[in-house]
Amino acid sequence: MVQKIGVIGTGYVGLVSGACFADMGNQVICVDRDTTKINRLLQADIPIYEPGLEELVRRNLKLNRLAFTSHIAEAVSASDLIFIAVGTPTLENGEVDMTQVRSAIIEITRHIHSPKIIVMKSTVPVGTGKSVENWIREELTVDAQVHVVSNPEFLREGTAIHDTFHPDRVVIGAADEAAGQRIAELHAPLQAEILLTDRESAELIKYASNAFLAAKISFINEMAHVCEKVGADVGLVAKGMGLDRRIGPHFLQAGIGYGGSCFPKDTRAQLKIAEKVDYDFQILRAVIDANQLQRQRFVDKIRLNLNGDVRGKRIAVLGLAFKPNTDDLRDAPALDIIAALQQEGAVISAYDPIATGAAAELLSDVKLHTDLYDAIQDTDAMVITTEWDEIKQMDLYKARISMNQPVLIDGRNIFDPKLMREIGFHYVSIGRM
Ligand SMILES: NC(=O)c1ccc[n+]([C@@H]2O[C@H](COP(=O)([O-])OP(=O)(O)OC[C@H]3O[C@@H](n4cnc5c(N)ncnc54)[C@H](O)[C@@H]3O)[C@@H](O)[C@H]2O)c1
Repeated sequence: MVQKIGVIGTGYVGLVSGACFADMGNQVICVDRDTTKINRLLQADIPIYEPGLEELVRRNLKLNRLAFTSHIAEAVSASDLIFIAVGTPTLENGEVDMTQVRSAIIEITRHIHSPKIIVMKSTVPVGTGKSVENWIREELTVDAQVHVVSNPEFLREGTAIHDTFHPDRVVIGAADEAAGQRIAELHAPLQAEILLTDRESAELIKYASNAFLAAKISFINEMAHVCEKVGADVGLVAKGMGLDRRIGPHFLQAGIGYGGSCFPKDTRAQLKIAEKVDYDFQILRAVIDANQLQRQRFVDKIRLNLNGDVRGKRIAVLGLAFKPNTDDLRDAPALDIIAALQQEGAVISAYDPIATGAAAELLSDVKLHTDLYDAIQDTDAMVITTEWDEIKQMDLYKARISMNQPVLIDGRNIFDPKLMREIGFHYVSIGRM
């Protein structure tokens, strides 16, 4: 059955979800309050980098299954199911900033004249479903039934379309069984495992999942330090662990720690959620601290391998986005690392295949290059901060001979230490000799 869907927020989640729902044959209208974004989208000009997204949007615009507007009223009247995909950033104190969610809900409610199901895709603290119901009750002036369902999003930037069409699971938390079933039917063509729960459990599943994945990353990064001290190889340790099906191989790559728009904010939010119910979530606190330390320790490593002082040294930072195949710079480790090196007097050049444009607005006194080799030319060290394929596949001989001194500090363990030494690099990575 074709569903009439409204999506509020056309960011990394809303735009992908809207385009994918349309591609499944539904009638979708996406709203954003950012009119520049909407004007670009109306021309199929995609404001973010996400592989395959432009083609998907173009196709569904052409088939008239996908529309864009900056007027919420238009989307509310045209839809039965309204997905909320607005941002939920972190406040200074670690709590979730619910301003975007609240204002979207109030605005939607003002235009409701018929039954609706409001589906929360944004990552929100446990209890939000209930709060949203209250906000709607206070604002609603007509007699229309409105249900609120939690449907947390698990897509990964860079593989967002694949993840949407092939999810490991679809979690649907509803207080009203029929409303939950309706959202389950919408996802039925995906043939994925659908987990129907109460709303609070669904809200917590999202935070629990991200906190657990972050814990795996911090765990292997801590193991990497032990490996360095005892002369073991963290890559082999992770491989040996990952072969155990109870552990699994994912999220066990030692490096410079997690970043991005989700793990840092969601781990802090989960800590606050626990704090609010008088629980000290000790493991999570350690996960967050270890991640922060990981960035500092990487800077220490760079300094140590440049004779204890980076002042005046020219350093090429390769990779700015928080991970490959995205232009997302939110809480990207590279930005912190650059800031710390600059503070110690280093001269930074940087390269990223996609995120250089966005980085120009965030970085000062950094020479941003559109060519990888130009960024490396005449530097005293190159530092790998994002494992883009292009960086993995660089001509290392060409790179080495263009440098002032062949120091390679690999924060993502993308190269083989033995081979790097054979090429002539002073090569240092994470948790490996
Ligand atoms: N980015 C991810 O990989 C990812 C993955 C899973 C879950 N999430 C969660 O999904 C949510 C959205 O994340 P994102 O990365 O897409 O955020 P984003 O910042 O890229 O996009 C949010 C969009 O909402 C728009 N917006 C805000 N308030 C609005 C309103 N009242 N009316 C209309 N538009 C409005 C903004 O202009 C922006 O374009 C967050 O809660 C996030 O935690 C994100």
